[in-house]
Amino acid sequence: MTPHRRKTTTPRTHNLGIVTTAATPPRDIDRSCVGGGLPNRKARYGSGTVPDVETTHEVRVGDAREVDLAAGSVDLLVTSPPYPMVEMWDASFADQSRAAAAALESGDGDAAFEAMHALLDEVWARTAEALRDGGIAAVNVGDATRRLDGEYRLYPNHARIIEAFEDAGFAQLPGIVWRKPTNSAAKFMGSGTLPTNAYATLEHEHVLLFRKGGPREFPPKDDARYASAFFWEERNEWFSDCWEIRGTRQALGDGDGDAHKDVYGDGTRERSGAFPLELPLRLVRMYSVQGDTVLDPFVGTGTTCLAALLEGRSSIGVERDPALAAGFEAAAEGAPGLSRELAEARLEQHRKFVADREEEPAYEAEHYDTRVVTSAERRIQLQTVDQLRKEAAEPLRFVARHEPF
Ligand SMILES: C[S@@+](CC[C@H](N)C(=O)[O-])C[C@H]1O[C@@H](n2cnc3c(N)ncnc32)[C@H](O)[C@@H]1O
Repeated sequence: MTPHRRKTTTPRTHNLGIVTTAATPPRDIDRSCVGGGLPNRKARYGSGTVPDVETTHEVRVGDAREVDLAAGSVDLLVTSPPYPMVEMWDASFADQSRAAAAALESGDGDAAFEAMHALLDEVWARTAEALRDGGIAAVNVGDATRRLDGEYRLYPNHARIIEAFEDAGFAQLPGIVWRKPTNSAAKFMGSGTLPTNAYATLEHEHVLLFRKGGPREFPPKDDARYASAFFWEERNEWFSDCWEIRGTRQALGDGDGDAHKDVYGDGTRERSGAFPLELPLRLVRMYSVQGDTVLDPFVGTGTTCLAALLEGRSSIGVERDPALAAGFEAAAEGAPGLSRELAEARLEQHRKFVADREEEPAYEAEHYDTRVVTSAERRIQLQTVDQLRKEAAEPLRFVARHEPF
């Protein structure tokens, strides 16, 4: 085994007091590439310069069925809607759809399922217009099991959402099963340890992937695309069709000191329905490039916007519950430190991969003191959040300056 070279270390203190010892090569930033704070400005890269990205992050309180977005202005959709026929979302659907309320009231499961999806369909149609050609829509959803009017059955949300996107002209791509082990009592639904009426436990959700039009095109050797490449071993893990990621705590306002969660409590629900940060982080890294714009029409606590912020992409979130939407502010404040921790962890993991690999990777990375397996990885440049400025409260809007790690 060939030992990998040691990185050069330059201890640095960042604005949240976090000290990193990551290799920080001298930068040659072309300041003329930095624009004057235009909304959702794309990052521009001069040849031979290091990317210097400015992004915007906006969380709008409102109904995603009515969101106003320019056609083609969004590069990636990442979202998790309220799950039809999962009881914690009944009140939300009933508030927004008379048909859903009436069907639930009368115990008509099929009609309730369809009415709830009809509401989601309106959001898919709206956001589909906003997505660019070649843009990816990533929808995380779980199926529901429920006994309504005496009948226990599965409500296959993922299948119904596939139909909706196919009807809207999207091509379905191979998706991901997100496996999240549960200890819940649901494990023993049905006849327990007796055949034949015991039921399999739903311990997975779906990450459905669709593309609008054909593959997205980039200019040859596009700087943003190559800086946003992922390491070989990351590709192997992220593009596996089964992710094992633990669910996140979803308690609202339990005052345990976790700022990202504590600010959301307004007494309307006990759980936020938040997905773990790792989920949108992966999707943002896999299906967008630095400087892109990511949309989440059901943004909840703002996890997707946080993922975009951490990775140097702009974001727009829509959320009908103002208490949840306001919570993004607390999450955003921690982004500078967290972005550096994440970048450092990725590099550390990569160096470990190189050290453990029998064969020395063929290429030298341009910006880090490490080797990489493919030539496409050579120009990888991880982004961190350098400065964050709150620009407006209504809608909540931040401007971030990023710098390469
Ligand atoms: C599954 S949760 C999303 C959680 C989010 N991924 C997170 O990490 O916090 C779905 C969210 O959609 C919101 N919602 C429901 N109907 C909506 C609508 N018509 N427009 C916008 N948001 C809506 C709910 O309030 C809820 O916060």
